[in-house]
Amino acid sequence: MKNKVKIITMVAGLTIAVSSVLFMNGCAVPESIANKTGAQLWAENCNRCHNAPDPHNFSDEQWDAALEHMHQKAILTDTEAKKILAFMKSAD
Ligand code: HEC
Repeated sequence: MKNKVKIITMVAGLTIAVSSVLFMNGCAVPESIANKTGAQLWAENCNRCHNAPDPHNFSDEQWDAALEHMHQKAILTDTEAKKILAFMKSAD
């Protein structure tokens, strides 16, 4: 009887430990995205619905507006949107 209680306590403790690790990691940027460049993210995301627009086609101000718009449409993370925007603006 005592052993059963011990096992239940251990399982409960483990569950709490695992879920708090998962919870904390939920806010971190996944490694795969963190390592991708703006150019890679642009190529992978911006051609899903239309041809990926040429970075030369718009001014920096126009990219600000377009990315604000596409950030929501393409369901990009903040990190992805920032990297893509920097890539778009780096082309003259
Ligand atoms: C989920 C589909 C989808 C994805 C993914 C997407 N777009 Fe778009 N995009 C659209 C649609 C639909 C339009 C035209 C209608 C509109 O503007 O809402 C558009 C229009 C645009 C325009 C025209 C100007 C404007 O703001 O309307 C630009 C520039 C653009 N997209 C850039 C991008 C870039 C850069 C990416 C990658 C970060 C991207 N799009 C990813 C759906 C998408």
